[in-house]
Amino acid sequence: MNNRDIHAAWKYHDGTKHSYWSIRNNPHFLDWANRPLPFKIYPQIESVSLPRDVSQTGVAALSAISEPAPTPRADSLPGLQDLARILYFSAGVTRQRTYPGGEIYFRAAACTGALYEIELYVVTGDLPGLDAGVYHFNPANVSLGLLRKGDFRNNLAQAAAMGPAVAHASATIICTGTYWRNAWKYQARTYRHFGWDSGTLLANMLAVSAASGLRAEIVLGFVDSEVNRLLDLNTRREVSLCLVPIGHTSESSLEPKEIPALGLETIPLSEREVEYPTMHEMHDASSLESEEEVRRWRGKKPILLSSAPVGEPVRLTPLPDDEPKDTIEQVILRRGSTRTFDRTASITLAQLSTILDRATRGLPVDFLEPLGTQFNDLYLIVHSVQGIKPGAYFFRREGNTLELLKEGEFRSEAYHLGLEQELPADACVTIFFLADLNRILELHGNRGYRAIQLEAGAIGGRMYLAAYAQHLGATGLTFFDDDVTDFFSPHAKGKNAIFLLAIGKPLKRKPQ
Ligand SMILES: Cc1cc2nc3c(=O)[nH]c(=O)nc-3n(C[C@H](O)[C@H](O)[C@H](O)COP(=O)(O)O)c2cc1C
Repeated sequence: MNNRDIHAAWKYHDGTKHSYWSIRNNPHFLDWANRPLPFKIYPQIESVSLPRDVSQTGVAALSAISEPAPTPRADSLPGLQDLARILYFSAGVTRQRTYPGGEIYFRAAACTGALYEIELYVVTGDLPGLDAGVYHFNPANVSLGLLRKGDFRNNLAQAAAMGPAVAHASATIICTGTYWRNAWKYQARTYRHFGWDSGTLLANMLAVSAASGLRAEIVLGFVDSEVNRLLDLNTRREVSLCLVPIGHTSESSLEPKEIPALGLETIPLSEREVEYPTMHEMHDASSLESEEEVRRWRGKKPILLSSAPVGEPVRLTPLPDDEPKDTIEQVILRRGSTRTFDRTASITLAQLSTILDRATRGLPVDFLEPLGTQFNDLYLIVHSVQGIKPGAYFFRREGNTLELLKEGEFRSEAYHLGLEQELPADACVTIFFLADLNRILELHGNRGYRAIQLEAGAIGGRMYLAAYAQHLGATGLTFFDDDVTDFFSPHAKGKNAIFLLAIGKPLKRKPQ
């Protein structure tokens, strides 16, 4: 299949839309006895324990999430402490709870259904405290399992068509998605969740890398089969989603090494697994097959059209850059999706402005230039933000303003759009991400679909952090696709719903 045949992305997207009727007519139920293991475990490999008492960076969360990536110093090598900090605060276990269905190990970043289908791997040269190798991160015991010994960075650099960030990285973290672990609950919609859940995790990863003084970037341009082969993945079950080169080294160009199949044993996730062929089709159709195709793909410049301004703009008033001062580590440890919002509470315009401003200052990604360009547009339903009228708004990033599309109390509409859940109705504001799929797929092919979902997750992840940095609450949500577009039309006509996040004040504050 071909990345340019965008029929595949449309087929997947349209086929996994939620509607009032699709939800009611879906006979799917959760088979608790067959619930997948939340960790990938290799029973027979050597592993290196990571330090658990890593030093804190002391950097304020609001600056860590919005700072442009530090300029590469001649050589900036992460040490084992840095690597441990980055991995733990992206995918580590931060809380544990017992439920009737068993134990849930909550992680540093939000994830649909707490199913944690995103795995992390590290491909590194020699670092202080760690030998060169290809490793798998096991959050269950905070260790790195050794898959291949030696320096394989040039294999990765070649797979990324010698893109400079990967070619000069001290280490590269790879995110993969494991279908069944999430599809157990969400069936074929899991492929969208791959983007959302890797995105929230990447928001943490970029912030903690920046706070550690290390350059990090999200790379989606790579030859899929090469990276999957390096990690020895069984691609019916698990596939590579993105690369995150960390640090910078001036040396480059070791010869790529032979990469024989490893066939390493892993503990089965469940007694039986169900495959959803539509996700495999979507993945194959969005795979890049050669270095030449990677180069062409990442060379695309988006043509982003600006809509005409509507109504009187409300100017946003973000707080100064390092206020409040809670560190990125404190905020990640405090974060946990809000389960009930206080319907009687309100937030200030400065709090909302700070969230929008910090989350949208630009992600360092290989698929968008210049920094600050964005695929997803943000639409808001404001219920209770001091100083602005309740209603539906469009966020104009260029001017840092909100434009009122329609005034009114839309709590019951938000309840419906967010899959008939109380959370989006009781929050102070719900933020909808919509994208012009037509235009983006035309330019970036099916791979653009992966990019849109991942971008939304990463911006959503930054919003989570910006909310918790201000002692507010937030939760990601799912939605009735076409009803969202209809609600914001005519402004949103032709766009597609991608992501949803609600922000407000938790009804019961957890002890902090
Ligand atoms: C993209 C996304 C969508 C989510 N959708 C819902 C939802 O529809 N309803 C809900 O109650 N929680 C939703 N959640 C919250 C997750 O259930 C929550 O992140 C997960 O249980 C992990 O808990 P934590 O965020 O407190 O660490 C969503 C989270 C994300 C990241």
